[in-house]
Amino acid sequence: MPEVNMSVNLAGMTMKNPIVVASGTFGFGREYGEFFDLSELGGICAKGLTLHRREGNPAPRIAETPMGILNSVGLQNPGVDAFIEEELPFLRQYDVKVIANISGNTPEEYGIMCEKLAGAGVDMIEVNISCPNVKAGGLAYGTRPELAAEVTKMAKSHAGNVPVMVKLSPNVTDVTEIARAVEDAGADALSLINTLRGMRIDINTDRPVLKMNTGGLSGPAVLPVAVRMVWEVANAVKIPILGMGGVAKGEDAAQLMLAGATAVAVGTSLFADPYAAIKVRDGLEAIAACKGLANVSDLTGGVKPW
Ligand SMILES: Cc1cc2nc3c(=O)[nH]c(=O)nc-3n(C[C@H](O)[C@H](O)[C@H](O)COP(=O)(O)O)c2cc1C
Repeated sequence: MPEVNMSVNLAGMTMKNPIVVASGTFGFGREYGEFFDLSELGGICAKGLTLHRREGNPAPRIAETPMGILNSVGLQNPGVDAFIEEELPFLRQYDVKVIANISGNTPEEYGIMCEKLAGAGVDMIEVNISCPNVKAGGLAYGTRPELAAEVTKMAKSHAGNVPVMVKLSPNVTDVTEIARAVEDAGADALSLINTLRGMRIDINTDRPVLKMNTGGLSGPAVLPVAVRMVWEVANAVKIPILGMGGVAKGEDAAQLMLAGATAVAVGTSLFADPYAAIKVRDGLEAIAACKGLANVSDLTGGVKPW
């Protein structure tokens, strides 16, 4: 089969291949680094950071569902300073792009974190305005265009030359409305989708399975929603998209790229198979080769709608 050029350019950040690992599903890479060389990936999106360390929500906070999981982890993390001091130097040993993912309680907190991370030299900042599992900030920013725009402007004005990618929530009526507001506010890229709000009930105890009652649904069950939303957003904005949601194999990544994504993140599938991201990369390369494409980026936006 002919060689495929797997490199892609996401808002000025060149990656050797389009495969990123999704925030919150890869920790800071240390555990997965025992399975494979992290330099095999295009990018690593680190676990969601907050200004100060967070314990997260009480357990149980993960539950299985048909073809997916529900989680209410609630942004457990050591805080942005500990990331910069202890985790970033570890990730920097690898030839891989490092994307920091941040969540704030106020627009000002997003600004402070961006300044610290830009100073520390991350390759990109992913602004999470869509976490369904935290009360403060969280989902509210991702469901209201004017708040999403305010957070985006604050992040951009404190991120220096580091590109800012805003992560969108699927828990909205019209995702394109938020996408446009964020693009107009200066975002360099968009990522989608975050988890879909869901709930499971134990019929023996009549209690919700998760201590927080509800959680975020991810995994293969959400792929068609992700493909639809990436397609809608790609038709509404000009900035590039990191697509994610339920990717488990090369074909899934190809669908997201055909829908309009420039790069693709693998998340929940890593829990079942730590090599999932590598397998997705290899599967995607084989699909591009089969189609006779010289560049994997030729897939982006190639869907032929009826
Ligand atoms: C356990 C868990 C923790 C997550 N933590 C974060 C987070 O900290 N920040 C964030 O933006 N997204 C977080 N996400 C969402 C994922 O990055 C991703 O958007 C979502 O799970 C859909 O992709 P997937 O189906 O491949 O997992 C988390 C998802 C899971 C399952």
